Amino acid sequence: MLKAVFLNILANKMETDSSSLEMNSLQLHKRARRARIENIRTLLVVGSGKGGVGKSTVSVNLAVALARQGASVGLLDGDAYGPSIPMMLGVRKKKAGQGSEVTLPLAHRGKLAPEQMLKPLLRYGIKIMSVGFFIGEEQAVAPMPDVLGAFIRQLLYSVDWGELDYLIVDLPPGNGEPQATLCRELQLDGALLVTTPQDIARIDTSKALAMFRDVDVPVLGVVQNMDGFLCPHCGERVEIFPRSREARAQLDDLLLLGSIPLDPAAAESGDRGQPVVVSKPESPVTTAFICIAKQVTTIIETNRTTAARQAPAENQEEAPVNQEEAETVKGDIFNNERED
Ligand SMILES: Nc1ncnc2c1ncn2[C@@H]1O[C@H](COP(=O)(O)OP(=O)(O)O)[C@@H](O)[C@H]1O
Ligand SMILES: [Mg+2]
Repeated sequence: MLKAVFLNILANKMETDSSSLEMNSLQLHKRARRARIENIRTLLVVGSGKGGVGKSTVSVNLAVALARQGASVGLLDGDAYGPSIPMMLGVRKKKAGQGSEVTLPLAHRGKLAPEQMLKPLLRYGIKIMSVGFFIGEEQAVAPMPDVLGAFIRQLLYSVDWGELDYLIVDLPPGNGEPQATLCRELQLDGALLVTTPQDIARIDTSKALAMFRDVDVPVLGVVQNMDGFLCPHCGERVEIFPRSREARAQLDDLLLLGSIPLDPAAAESGDRGQPVVVSKPESPVTTAFICIAKQVTTIIETNRTTAARQAPAENQEEAPVNQEEAETVKGDIFNNERED
């Protein structure tokens, strides 16, 4: 079913965008006006050039930490290649074709009627939607990257988020698509980069930074994950990964939003469907996430105040997205229950 959904988006995309395919997608954004999603105050993405560095862990725990600070928060898992947020939040869907059928209004332009919208799940005080809800955990899916971009964008518009202070999108690893589509078409308020300490990860993260900068998406800072291991027996800090030996000037100049140690409890919590900020509220990992959430809030509010001072008229003109034309595709979806 997901294949049909992706094919449909691809067909629609090729029809409407055929002339733009010749253009460099990362340059196109400069000509287009980027849209805001209605009622979403702050749209953030969590990215990295590399997989396995902790993007989903950061996305989930940051979302819960922000919610615990009193913000209304949504979380969209956009990693179709390895959607892990359903598992990390205990809302798994193991097989394809399970649950009730819904209509996903693809390429719908114009405001969706409430009955056309998908309802997000609520877990730990955050609203959740995942591409993983459309596929089974064991289902192999490899959508074309630019199709995935269109799919994520449409999911963003098709979910009934309500009013949110923050909507966080957990991106798949990489520096091309779907990042380019999202950066080009949506007004992102910031990107958070996640890396681990060693060169092999930092090199890829530098590429992700260059990509975001190239498309004028503000990078709020970097989260250094798996930064040392605190021995649970003696408390000694052990370096697991070699420290980067190559200077990566771009990355080094970024604000360090936080360093998160390796903690077996964080991995176990993820597997059990309970974020570590919930399961171990006193741990150093949780302290780091709370600190990151506070920093993100401060940066966003400061940026907003600065932007309002600089261009009050321009900011007022920003209209929520206004799309036209409608098309619907049927997709199956999860039921709102834990499986395990
Ligand atoms: N600080 C950490 N300590 C221990 N395990 C971690 C930590 N950060 C992430 N993990 C674990 O590492 C694995 C990969 O993390 P994940 O967030 O899925 O990475 P990504 O989304 O970048 O692919 C998961 O099993 C996760 O639980
Ligand atoms: Mg992930």
